[in-house]
Amino acid sequence: MSTIDYSDKIPNNVNLAEDRTLQRALEQWQPNFIRWWDDVGPEGSTNYDVYLRTAVSVDPQGWAQFGHVKMRDYRWGIFLNPGQADREIHFGDHKGEKAWQDVPGEHRANLRRIIVTQGDTEPASVEQQRHLGLTAPSMYDLRNLFQINVEEGRHLWAMVYLLQKHFGRDGREEANALLERQSGDANNPRILGAFNEKTPDWLAFFMFTYFTDRDGKFQLSALAESAFDPLARTTKFMLTEEAHHMFVGESGVSRVIARTCQVMNELKTDHAQKVRAAGAIDLGTIQRYLNFHYSVTIDLFGADQSSNAATFYSSGLKGRYEEGKRTDDHLLKGQTYKVLEVQNDQLVEKDVPMLNALNEVLRDDFIKDSVAGVGRWNKVIEKAGLPTRLVVPHKAFNRQIGALAGIRMSPDGRVISDAEWDAKKDEWLPSADDRAFVASLMGRVVDAGQFANWIAPPAMGINRQSVDFEYVRFD
Ligand SMILES: [Fe+2]
Ligand SMILES: [Fe+2]
Repeated sequence: MSTIDYSDKIPNNVNLAEDRTLQRALEQWQPNFIRWWDDVGPEGSTNYDVYLRTAVSVDPQGWAQFGHVKMRDYRWGIFLNPGQADREIHFGDHKGEKAWQDVPGEHRANLRRIIVTQGDTEPASVEQQRHLGLTAPSMYDLRNLFQINVEEGRHLWAMVYLLQKHFGRDGREEANALLERQSGDANNPRILGAFNEKTPDWLAFFMFTYFTDRDGKFQLSALAESAFDPLARTTKFMLTEEAHHMFVGESGVSRVIARTCQVMNELKTDHAQKVRAAGAIDLGTIQRYLNFHYSVTIDLFGADQSSNAATFYSSGLKGRYEEGKRTDDHLLKGQTYKVLEVQNDQLVEKDVPMLNALNEVLRDDFIKDSVAGVGRWNKVIEKAGLPTRLVVPHKAFNRQIGALAGIRMSPDGRVISDAEWDAKKDEWLPSADDRAFVASLMGRVVDAGQFANWIAPPAMGINRQSVDFEYVRFD
């Protein structure tokens, strides 16, 4: 079961050959996917041979194989974690019943919506990142970008498989629509806000992969608990791939900080303009990028009170992060949770039914996880002997979704006036000047072992290769 059949046109471990109708449907979708990749995938990359990992098994020991491949020829396929014959639903109203192998009629619309929303984020991020290869700070980083891009493509395959196998004609239409919406498109945008933002430079890319791919981790973890077993098994395997994306973000930001601190120590300055003049990114700009990506990403969890969230949980479609490790009754009826709202220009906590607050519960789990990595970034600054520390802003800062949407808020959680917001917002969020400065540093450095001036080399290479290994062959 865990071995992947690569003799098929579409690599898979789901016995695709035995389901002719599904196989035909997916084989019809495949050229559309390749056309999409050619049109809006990584720009100018068609002839590159990239040192990529490809999934060859879902066995946690040695599931991937590395080698130089053209991205277009990447073996995108369908890989589900092994099933467990007696798996039971472990939360919500169906707790204790057998997990579903097919979609129950009454949950069909909601499940489709959940799968489409998740699926839509996957090609969106590839579109958002498509120009970054032109300004890669090193061959090593270029390879990591491409690895993430092909795996987001595979995550799209994972969702399209579910749609095509379990949702009939609607599923086929949704699968096509996933290739038609486009990130940032005025007429046909991607579904969620953060996936229509630009990823214009590599600092934005590292922040995106640290924060926004981590949103992916939490959403996938919640879906990995689902009563709909094929969704649970698919998302479990996606999580294996996701870990690398967050690693790229965390280590990327960490290397930017390391280089900045080195320049600050060499010049004995904490003056932003002097750091910039030396070609490094000042810590203030890094903090503002962090504020932006953090606040945009926590909006992805949705409104703090949501009857959909309650329905998704009670009907077993979507659990909580690490549902199985929690020791409550897994029904949550009659329990409460604290959410924030503004009363008389003050943030106040209010108790609401927990079932309705499950978006907030997941957001708070995400926040805990995010803060840990910011602490590791601060260790880099601390080790360099510098006093500055990065902080995540208050969760009410710069929100566009839920009860806090549109409220003027400082990063430390004070409700402020429009006038104060206008006066300070360039200290809190990347200004046009910050973005122009970071853009001015983006030049293409792709000779093996060379790194742009604004980022430190990584501690080690990929798959135990050296840092100066030829990760991308250009001819
Ligand atoms: Fe993904
Ligand atoms: Fe990802």
